[in-house]
Amino acid sequence: MRTVTLNNGVEMPILGYGVYQIPPEQTERAVTEALAVGYRLLDTAAAYQNEEAVGRAIASSGVPREELFVTTKLWVQDAGEENARRAFDTSLRKLGLDHLDLYLIHQPFGDVYGSWRAMQRLYHEGRVKAIGVSNFHADRLVDLIEHNEVTPAVNQVETHPFFQRTADQELMRERGVRIESWGPFAEGRNNLFSDPVLGEIAEGHGKSVPQVVLRWLVQREVVVIPKSVRADRMAENLDVFDFALTDGEMARIAAMDTGSSLFFDHRDPAMVSRIGTARVHD
Ligand SMILES: NC(=O)c1ccc[n+]([C@@H]2O[C@H](COP(=O)([O-])OP(=O)(O)OC[C@H]3O[C@@H](n4cnc5c(N)ncnc54)[C@H](OP(=O)(O)O)[C@@H]3O)[C@@H](O)[C@H]2O)c1
Repeated sequence: MRTVTLNNGVEMPILGYGVYQIPPEQTERAVTEALAVGYRLLDTAAAYQNEEAVGRAIASSGVPREELFVTTKLWVQDAGEENARRAFDTSLRKLGLDHLDLYLIHQPFGDVYGSWRAMQRLYHEGRVKAIGVSNFHADRLVDLIEHNEVTPAVNQVETHPFFQRTADQELMRERGVRIESWGPFAEGRNNLFSDPVLGEIAEGHGKSVPQVVLRWLVQREVVVIPKSVRADRMAENLDVFDFALTDGEMARIAAMDTGSSLFFDHRDPAMVSRIGTARVHD
């Protein structure tokens, strides 16, 4: 698996497996299959309610811990210095691990600065190899960087052919933050899987539309974590390292950008309120 080097020297697989919206009772089987087909980066979150099932799959997989790169995320409900520390311990216990590879602030809401202080401490204590954020727009990312000691290693944001984040990626590159795509297929919105441009490019390479999308992200040096509950699709989504898109094909995909989210804007006050007050545990 190709890796990228984060701003602290840690190597992160460029392609991994995401488990959002996989029900807890299906997650152990799905992650077991993902590890068997070769995924080594796993992306979960406290809010996904499936960390324990991810942990069981890791434990029974036989894959050495040092080969794995495990990410989980801190939910807004647990923001703040003391709460974040407790939430980290809870996630680690649920995952059955003694350290994490990457811990992210899931949303740019609540006491982000308190959370970040806790994460910096966990990082310095060696309990997590890298720390980062998710869903941070450029202004919030730069503010966090300017007023803290540790620069986030990663910012995981919605990134797919309809919302490409090229300017955001450039700013992150300048600041030493690695962009990671969530929703690489836009969860199938805008008929992504039957898009004619992507279909034509795929046909030219004897590949599928999802493979073209993942290849396009990998060629842009964007870390990506597609989700599928089907083993055949998991394997398909990993198989993107034996072909390359031409400059012309990259330009055709670039022209598909709408410049806005297909889900929601993290600066929309109604969403800030709704997500910011969502509770994921007692
Ligand atoms: N930080 C955040 O706020 C945030 C938000 C959303 C997601 N994420 C992370 O990003 C990961 C990926 O995003 P996502 O799960 O939202 O969406 P996604 O990966 O864009 O799309 C998943 C959908 O695509 C289908 N699919 C996957 N591979 C396919 C293939 N080869 N052919 C046809 N259909 C295929 C899946 O169906 P089947 O499962 O039925 O195959 C599922 O319906 C998540 O799992 C999560 O780890 C993070």
